[in-house]
Amino acid sequence: MDVRLKITDGEPVYRQIVRYIEERVRSGELAPGTLLPAERKLAEQLQVNRSTVSVAYDELRARGFIRSKQGSGTRVSEDAWGLEFRAPDWAGYVSQGIFQPTLPLVRLLWEENRRAENINLARGEMAPELWPVKQLQALAAELPPQVQLGYGDPRGEKSLRSTVSRHLADHYGIRMPAHRILITAGSQQGLHLVTQSLLRPGDAVALEKPSYAYSLPLFASAGVRMFPLPVDEDGLVPDEVMALHRRHRIRMVFVTPTHQNPTGTLLTPERRRRLIDICADLRIPIVEDDAHGALTLDGNPPPPPPLAAMAGADQQVIYLGTLSKTFAPGLRVGWMTGPTTVIDRIAGVREQMDFGISGITQAIAEQVLATGIWAENVRRLRSELTKRRNIMVDCLHRYFGDDLTFTIPQGSYHIWGKMKHPVRDRDLAERAIRSGVVIAPGSVYGAGPGYVRLTYASSPEADIEEGIRRLHRAWKDG
Ligand SMILES: Cc1ncc(COP(=O)(O)O)c(C=O)c1O
Repeated sequence: MDVRLKITDGEPVYRQIVRYIEERVRSGELAPGTLLPAERKLAEQLQVNRSTVSVAYDELRARGFIRSKQGSGTRVSEDAWGLEFRAPDWAGYVSQGIFQPTLPLVRLLWEENRRAENINLARGEMAPELWPVKQLQALAAELPPQVQLGYGDPRGEKSLRSTVSRHLADHYGIRMPAHRILITAGSQQGLHLVTQSLLRPGDAVALEKPSYAYSLPLFASAGVRMFPLPVDEDGLVPDEVMALHRRHRIRMVFVTPTHQNPTGTLLTPERRRRLIDICADLRIPIVEDDAHGALTLDGNPPPPPPLAAMAGADQQVIYLGTLSKTFAPGLRVGWMTGPTTVIDRIAGVREQMDFGISGITQAIAEQVLATGIWAENVRRLRSELTKRRNIMVDCLHRYFGDDLTFTIPQGSYHIWGKMKHPVRDRDLAERAIRSGVVIAPGSVYGAGPGYVRLTYASSPEADIEEGIRRLHRAWKDG
């Protein structure tokens, strides 16, 4: 089959490939059984990344236009001509759902991350070698007899909420009774629940720019208007909330004050106080995402207290915590604290949504927090992450010198750097992938050109140097 597709700007490349093939199948130009070019060949011919062609072929396969068989390649489906009449218009449905489509660049990064030959400096999670597998095996083998196997309390099991209450007091200085705590499937779900339960389409929210990548489509899907709070080396600038409120009537502020993702900044105690005061005066609730708060690296002072601890009894903060960064993201356990009215409302939403997370997972999470397992794991992770951060910092200095500027992070997983000679984000990501390393360019987080987030937690420690070497080569060769 001869592909004469001219790639143009303005539409994701994979969509152009899908459309090109779909139109030719529908018009009969491509007969059933026609052999399509192999992914690698088509990628070479169109001068695009192979994973872009993979994504396009995946979609065509999912929609029944093509079939792939080991040994005989990818062909137009035998029954493709009938598709128009037999299959519902899934593409139409898919484009109309309320959730935003995943950005093609993000999809490309995560596809590439799955390839064993690539070094992953993009994904914000710990490498498998850092997973607490043994501890989890032991806990799973000894589930308590009272484990909840029915539909439990939509706020989460009382015993786990009481354990989280003690955990927050002991490790974060947050005093919160169990009835003001709700168990979530991680902070991402917490953000989703807050947005869907407490906001309406058109509401204005303020959030840090740049911000955690997955929060951006979540807010866009809910139809809320996002207004940026600039972040400098001391974290977000609180007085901007006032300015934004005057212009847009801000309904909620979303912040990550400690080891912010992606910039790694710590909001100073003065700015924390100022943010709390401004929001109290304007009666704007604050949603504090503390996913990374416990991961201060060795040799640094403890971070300032969370906003939820500083605001105390004022009930103006909804606080989100998670086991994802300090224990295992695959456990899918987090929590949310807030005023009783909010917790009760969200518990009701939870009943409509999924009835809450598994009682088995909750029993394991309770053991992780109630025994010394969590604290021990955090000590181990801090020391491992400190080693990895130092390796990455050293490699960045050696390979990039002055060509990449960054502040050495005091916590968590990432280095946020700025290239001296900015390269178009997508070009940089694609060139890096061709060199065998996956990195997250700044636009994924809403930043301007030239920024890059490099994660030292996600690949084996021994691969960090090679990852930086490949990135440097990709950047230099451009
Ligand atoms: C700031 C921030 N919030 C939330 C999340 C989502 O975490 P969870 O696995 O708890 O849903 C992440 C994950 O990277 C994050 O960095």
